[in-house]
Amino acid sequence: MASKAIILELLIATCVVAVFASDPSPLQDFCVADPNSMVKVNGGVCKDPKAVTADDFFFNGLNKVGNTSNPVGSRVSAVNVVQIPGLNTLGISLARVDYAPRGINPPHTHPRATEILTVLEGTLLVGFVTSNTENRLFTKVLQKGDVFVFPIGLIHFQQNIGHGHAVAIAALSSQNPGVITIANAVFGSNPDIPTDVLAKAFQTHKPIIAGIQAKF
Ligand SMILES: *[C@@H]1O[C@H](CO)[C@@H](O)[C@H](O)[C@H]1NC(C)=O
Repeated sequence: MASKAIILELLIATCVVAVFASDPSPLQDFCVADPNSMVKVNGGVCKDPKAVTADDFFFNGLNKVGNTSNPVGSRVSAVNVVQIPGLNTLGISLARVDYAPRGINPPHTHPRATEILTVLEGTLLVGFVTSNTENRLFTKVLQKGDVFVFPIGLIHFQQNIGHGHAVAIAALSSQNPGVITIANAVFGSNPDIPTDVLAKAFQTHKPIIAGIQAKF
């Protein structure tokens, strides 16, 4: 009886392992997103492989300097499954970030991706904050050629602390990483989060919250 119980236990353990050890790799060479399909599977449905061309895996223009004339003084040029349909299901994408002097890429998170960033030009102060209850800030000054990682889901930012323009290239572990910019989500939601909710959450007064909401 005891041995039967052990076998049963082993069987259950094996099944649990099998369920959680699913292979994240796609089971075909590619699944180029078909923009004309209404049905979405992992971002898109696969285009007929016979209709796929090299251009489905191609993008040009990441050499172009982004326009940083905006209130935060930075511009993200994303190259994800929207720009390259061939990225669909492959779990990877790229972005170029331009920063005006003192410009910031404001605190934001990528709900579906870890990010690895390298500085091509300039000097960046970067950081991310861990989740509750520690909320620990990891921060670093990056020079040209330096590389830094922002773990999936954590709030992070960059600031150009050099004298000139700065440029970084970031790779992300999703073809569709998503971006939640904290200020826009909290103060610029549509419709607004009630002002008194935010006043209590931020331990301040409603006119202060309303003033910030008016900017987003
Ligand atoms: C950059 O953006 C600003 C603000 O939207 C705009 O006025 C300006 O013409 C843009 N510059 C270029 C070179 O596109």
